[in-house]
Amino acid sequence: MGKANLHKRLERQQLHIAGQAWHGKGLFRFEHRVDFPRLVSLFFKCMGLYGRGYRNYLDIRVVENVVALPGLPPTFDGLRVLQIADLHTDLDDALPDAVIARLQGLDYDLCINTGDFRNRTRDSLHASMAATRVIYEHIHGPKYGIFGNHDFLEKVPDLEAMGIRLLLNESVPIEKDGQQLWLSGIDDAHFYESHDIARARSQVPDSAFAIMLSHTPQTYREVEAAGYRFMLSGHTHGGQICLPGGHIISGHCPTPRPMWRGPWQYGQLKGYTSPGTGSGSSPLRFNCPPELTVHVLRCEI
Ligand SMILES: [Fe+2]
Repeated sequence: MGKANLHKRLERQQLHIAGQAWHGKGLFRFEHRVDFPRLVSLFFKCMGLYGRGYRNYLDIRVVENVVALPGLPPTFDGLRVLQIADLHTDLDDALPDAVIARLQGLDYDLCINTGDFRNRTRDSLHASMAATRVIYEHIHGPKYGIFGNHDFLEKVPDLEAMGIRLLLNESVPIEKDGQQLWLSGIDDAHFYESHDIARARSQVPDSAFAIMLSHTPQTYREVEAAGYRFMLSGHTHGGQICLPGGHIISGHCPTPRPMWRGPWQYGQLKGYTSPGTGSGSSPLRFNCPPELTVHVLRCEI
């Protein structure tokens, strides 16, 4: 991932463990002093809505996103890419079974994970890795992943032992019938800021088609400028607790609102922001179903 970025990330991980930084930046955020997830849960319990929100959290949908991409090599026309996002596996013990139930019989060629494997960031990795392992026993084909703002680098050996090729500011080719599709992945740009788009891009041949994986969509300008034409992200949870009609209260992400959930386009870059397969902080969702997304890549004529 590059020495400078490695150093920056490890330094911020230590700050995080020491309780001097939280999901966002700065040392004096509201979350330092208040157990926000507990307050949210208490609020919905008092409203009599906790049970409904919890059922929504486990009611994972399968969503198909057909996307036409200029420059996609013809042999990859119809490629089905399964996106898993923001599992936050250690938030609730019931999540793995809910994910596995939706994975049964699902048709896809490869699987990518856009980060946030775990929820709690100051405890042992064991719970999140054990739950992730259970889920990944039910995923077939090549597997790729990147890290989010809830992930620590110490997970690399566990995740790679599960067959997940992690992309930390790097790119790999996917080959089929003598043609190549490149997959780039950057580290978290939201909190750790240890992403390096140029480094990932430098590994891709100039004329090759490449897909970018970026935990947060806030990198959209630089990713478009670097010549990428498709990007997959998560991080926003689609708002997770939304108003009726799916109206997002906050995406916790400095991007235009349309990039907080679903398909979007910026210049020549097409993107998709997953609302998350799991959820963060509280196991609750309203007006924003969690999803497994199958992207069907088509050649744009
Ligand atoms: Fe997340």
